[in-house]
Parts: sequence; C-alpha cells; structure tokens
Amino acid sequence: MPGSRKSKKKRGQEAAPPVLVARVNEQVALEVYANGKVGTYVDGYAFEIGMISPGSVKRAQGLSEGLPVGSFSPARKPVDREIEALARHLARRGLLEYGLAPPGGDTVVAIEPQIPDYWPQIAKLGNADIVVLSRFAYLRRRGSDLVLESPRSPALFRIADPRIAAALAALTAPQKVSKLRQEKDFVGLALLGLLVDCEILFKAKPKSDGLRPDEGDENLVVWDFHDLLFHTRSTEGRQANLLGGRFPYVGKIAPPPAVRAPWGGTAIDLQGFAGGAASPLAALLRARRSVRDFDEAKPITLAELARFLDAAARVQSKWTTPFDFGDGTVGPDLNYTSRPYPSAGSAYELELYLTVNACEGLARGLYHYDADRHALVPIEARAPELEAQLAAASFAMDTPGLPQILITIAARFNRIAWKYSALAYSLVLKDVGVLLQTLYLAATDVGLGGCAIGTSNIDLFAKMTGQPFHVEGPVGQFALGRGAPEGLGELPAGHR
Ligand SMILES: Cc1cc2nc3c(=O)[nH]c(=O)nc-3n(C[C@H](O)[C@H](O)[C@H](O)COP(=O)(O)O)c2cc1C
Repeated sequence: MPGSRKSKKKRGQEAAPPVLVARVNEQVALEVYANGKVGTYVDGYAFEIGMISPGSVKRAQGLSEGLPVGSFSPARKPVDREIEALARHLARRGLLEYGLAPPGGDTVVAIEPQIPDYWPQIAKLGNADIVVLSRFAYLRRRGSDLVLESPRSPALFRIADPRIAAALAALTAPQKVSKLRQEKDFVGLALLGLLVDCEILFKAKPKSDGLRPDEGDENLVVWDFHDLLFHTRSTEGRQANLLGGRFPYVGKIAPPPAVRAPWGGTAIDLQGFAGGAASPLAALLRARRSVRDFDEAKPITLAELARFLDAAARVQSKWTTPFDFGDGTVGPDLNYTSRPYPSAGSAYELELYLTVNACEGLARGLYHYDADRHALVPIEARAPELEAQLAAASFAMDTPGLPQILITIAARFNRIAWKYSALAYSLVLKDVGVLLQTLYLAATDVGLGGCAIGTSNIDLFAKMTGQPFHVEGPVGQFALGRGAPEGLGELPAGHR
C-alpha cells in the first residue's frame, strides 16, 4: 500500500522490479474453450480467433486477467510459442494491452498500443545513460485517467500512480540513470526502457541540454509539437481512436443548419445580374461532382491519365533566387517551381503517388508522379498493402468496387516547415484543398470521374514507401477513374 510502513523505501534502495503483463483490453471478452477454440466478444460481436492445443488452454485463459510477457516471450517451449503467437495475433487486431505492476500489486502503468505492430520492448539502459523527455510528449486527462502520449509513440501510457507522473516531470531536463535510481520514487528501469523504446524519452548525449536539435534528424527538427500531433491525430495508422463520420452528437446537440441564418440587414438581390451562356469555367465548375463508382469494363487509359496529370499537376517553370536576409546579405539559393494550382509560398510540398488498380497501358502497382519530368516512376510495394489501401478507399466512399487509380497526396513536410514552422501543417491542408479541387476539375475536363477521400493511413503509406511518417506522408486522397455509365451524369459540351 502506498505510504504504508512496509512499502517505505530508503533512498538508494530499489523496490522489486515491476512485472510487465499482457491482457485483453477492457472492450474485449476472451473465450478459450477446453477443446482449444479461441474467440473474442467485442461490442457484443463474436469473432473467431483460431485453435490452440488443449495443453495451452489454461495459460491462454490467463490473457483475460494478465500473463507476464516474460513467461512466454521470447518463447522457450512449444507451449510458449503458441501463447506468444496468440498474444501477437490479438495485439495485431488491437485487442491487447499491457500493464506494469509490482509483484502482487495493482497496475501502476497500463500501456495501450496505438499501432497494430506495437509489441512492448524494454530498451536497455545502463547507469551511464542520460535520458530526457521528448518535446513531443505530453500528459493529459482522458476521462478520469491520466495519460502520457506522444505523436511519435506507438503506444499510450495510462498512469495510475501520481508519483510516477511527478517523477516523469523531473525528466524535462536530462538525467543520468544512475542518479535516477537513487531517487525515493524511482519509476524503475522497465518503465524507463519502455518509454525510450516508444520515443517518449530519448537518450541524450553527455553535456546535451536535450533541446530540439538533439532529438532526431533535421526532418524531425522542423516539426512543431502541435503540427505533429495534429497530423497523427487526424489520420489513420498511428492512433487507436475511431475516425470518420460517426455522428457522436446525434440526440445531444441539434444538427447545425446547411445554410447560415441570414443577417438582419436589407439584402441586395444579385439574381438580376445573371444572364448569357455560362462560361467554360462556370460550366466545368457546375459539371464537377464526386464519382465513387467506376466502369469496371472500361478502365482509364494511360493517355487519359497523362492528360489529367499534365492539366492538374505538371511543373510549368522553375526558378532560383538567393535567400535575402533583408540587410543586404544573401544566403543559400532557394529553388521554386510553378504548377497549375496555387501553393503557399510557392513551396509545392505536395507529391502525388498513384496506386494503380486498373489502367489500360499501365501495370498494377504504386507509382510516384515526377511532376518535373512528367513521368511515372514505379515503386516496389507489396500486393497486400496495395489491396489494403484500395480497400480502405472503397470503404471511405461506401462503395463495393475499387477505384481504378487511388491518388495519395503526400506532403514533404520539411519543404514547407523550413520556412513557416508553426503555420506549416495548416498551410499543407489548405494546399491539399486547392489541389483536390484542381484534380476534380481536371478529371471532369478529361471526361473522367473522381472523389476526394478525407482519411488516409499514414502508417500503411510509410510501409509502402519506406518513408518515415514525419518525413513524407499522406495528407489527402483522390479516387480516379472512368465513372460507371450511370454515374457520369450530364457533362457540358467540350467536357466529355
Ligand atoms: C476534403 C474532402 C474530403 C472528402 N472525403 C470523402 C470521403 O472520405 N468519402 C466520400 O465518399 N466522399 C468524400 N468527399 C466528397 C464529398 O462527400 C462531396 O464533395 C460532397 O458530398 C459534395 O458532392 P459533390 O462533390 O458531388 O458536389 C470529400 C470531399 C472533400 C472536399
């Protein structure tokens, strides 16, 4: 019991190390039957997991209350291997969490994975190591819990003991592990190692102040805290929260109106000014609409794709200008391009990646659009990842078929953050908006159909391209193809 005489610990005397246990999370009921059949109930739905040998049933049942991770991983016996495989399977489905508890005591820290691949690893720390909190780490209240998170971390830490929160607060400055171990409320090497593995703490170099330039490479240095948090929280792949149009306030708040209530002043009627034939631009704007179903019998052709990309995204000119410090001195040369759509500061940080499902004249696969050379460059990506990306797009559009081409708009964050820092991510999203409209109009003009997609999976894209999520990653998507015959609607003359 905290504060009892028994638990009082003298300075410099470490308590017994806490045990790391794995267990199914609160939303899950695990069923392991005597014949070895394993299933789960989540939100009232039953899911089959598979079979284990009858000899492993009792241990597998332990995953309901918590099994020490060290008792089965790394596996020493065949039964350990079976339990580890089951635990990893449950983990990949987001059904497992972990807890740190002193032997025989209550959990002091629970670990909630945020990505399916998370598996707790305790980074090795020696007495000479120096650790410090990442500038991206934060503690906040979630319901009645205190949680420690970071947009860099693949897991979230629920802190049940306030003394641990207080001890972590002391890590805002670099601390030597040997010194920390002397503290009365030392959090333990296991927790420090887990936090280092999750990049919530990082090992600092001797004499370092642990500030921004010391954490990560230059691609990380340019990120501000709020921007990286916004990026990881408004996309899929690196957080466990559910996203999408979930209508969480139905029945609690009245639906806001589609059109704003008019202001009280006398309105000046503009309708009398309309007249004459609609300009080609006005006609194109009116013809544009979202097309979610594509013609399976008639895929888009490579020639159409080339015209579409040329109209919407090709580099039109390039120029270089020296950086001007404003006091008569100049710095490095800065390179710029112009393209058909506007971009904050002419940064043009957005790149187009094409996941091609069906295109006449172009093999299925992932390509980067080289906007300067007006060329498509293939990127080797695994088939299941291509499928997963296309299927997620269909799901977002609530349509049974796959898009013929899925365009992922990815941002080279450092290109824009190097200049704008705190504004950078908001500018990226504004740039995505104008690019999406340009893609819509170019598709309509070429006689194709398309639809913007509001979510993207930043972890999946990182796996497909090998680019870390903070270096270059998805900020928007656009499904493209030849609309299914009934989905094309009326297009004005000249726009078929
Ligand atoms: C930023 C943005 C995100 C969108 N995300 C989705 C999406 O995820 N799924 C979808 O079916 N439509 C999506 N849309 C399309 C809108 O639903 C569509 O533009 C809107 O219903 C108006 O219809 P219209 O485009 O045919 O005029 C998105 C549009 C925008 C601009």
